[in-house]
Amino acid sequence: MTARRVALIGAGGIAQTYLRLLGQARADEIVLAAVVDIDETAAERAARPFAVPAFTSHALARDSVDLDAVIVCTPPVTHATIASDFLRVGVSVLCEKPLTLDAAAARSLVAEARSSAALLSMAAKFRFVADVAEARRRLLDGEIGEVVQVDNTFAAVVPMEHRWTADRAVAGGGVIIDNGTHSVDLVRWFAGPIREVMAVEGPRQQGLEVEDNAQLLTRSTSGATGRIDLSWSLAIDEPWYLRVHGTDGAIDIGWRESRLRTAGNDWRRFGRGYDKLAAMGEQLRNFVAAVDGREPLAVGTDDAIASVEVIEAAYRSLGTQSFVPVAPPKPRVELAS
Ligand SMILES: NC(=O)c1ccc[n+]([C@@H]2O[C@H](COP(=O)([O-])OP(=O)(O)OC[C@H]3O[C@@H](n4cnc5c(N)ncnc54)[C@H](O)[C@@H]3O)[C@@H](O)[C@H]2O)c1
Repeated sequence: MTARRVALIGAGGIAQTYLRLLGQARADEIVLAAVVDIDETAAERAARPFAVPAFTSHALARDSVDLDAVIVCTPPVTHATIASDFLRVGVSVLCEKPLTLDAAAARSLVAEARSSAALLSMAAKFRFVADVAEARRRLLDGEIGEVVQVDNTFAAVVPMEHRWTADRAVAGGGVIIDNGTHSVDLVRWFAGPIREVMAVEGPRQQGLEVEDNAQLLTRSTSGATGRIDLSWSLAIDEPWYLRVHGTDGAIDIGWRESRLRTAGNDWRRFGRGYDKLAAMGEQLRNFVAAVDGREPLAVGTDDAIASVEVIEAAYRSLGTQSFVPVAPPKPRVELAS
């Protein structure tokens, strides 16, 4: 097997986890071939231990280094351009979430990927958490019946005042797009496609130009509902971040362990909780295997578009106090008189 040559685009916070994984990866499967960051010091610091070139422009790296794939770890506003610049030359892209700031950009990026031999995936690490994967297997095996409701909470105190995360032009919004992108992917993963969504914003506690507290209600095409709590300002300290309620039981997926209960029976514990490194390692392994043609991509372009569409619909619904359809509105057909 020839190792896949990968470049890391963006060498900030989340990139450090990918660097750890690349440092541990089998050299015959994946090798880091270049690092790019507009901050030269950050690029060089990341590249040095691997003895690979550092660049301050992704286009320069693309034109100078032989690459099979890139991992895009830059702020969201840059994702569409960077991903497109690599897809266009046949380099596969694992893009950090959110894929893009809006659904129109997501659709055009996906169209580009579909017309190229290269693959496009959006990072959705929670799907690769071992407990989440086991929960889904057990759901599909029928252990809790059909999904009725999914509850998700991603709420912790994270001061965002001086970060791009709170800059609407860079991030596309606040906690709804930041944490909520993970949430809607999980709801879709367990309850299927989301048909409509309603978002409610809570008080702004950090004085930001974007929301730092919000709740989303979703309805899937199956009729199942989703209830999502998002916050950068409230520490909602619960052991379970995802609860899947079924017709014949329930599954709670937690930070330290998980549990399943079938109707009329006690909870039975399973799993070991949340392990970010292991989950992102599994995500990277699947991406590289898919680039190699050895297995299907776990998070495909339909998933990536859908997550952006649900978040966009959630923002459309803010302030309307009503559900908003996720599917793009159909163009009006004017009847000839
Ligand atoms: N999956 C997760 O759990 C997770 C966690 C954190 C962040 N993220 C996502 O990862 C992405 C990066 O977030 P972060 O927290 O690492 O941000 P960060 O600010 O820590 O790092 C971003 C880096 O990108 C560099 N950069 C900016 N524009 C660039 C460009 N055009 N070309 C090359 N480099 C550029 C910056 O200099 C910086 O070093 C975001 O999309 C974010 O939503 C995902």
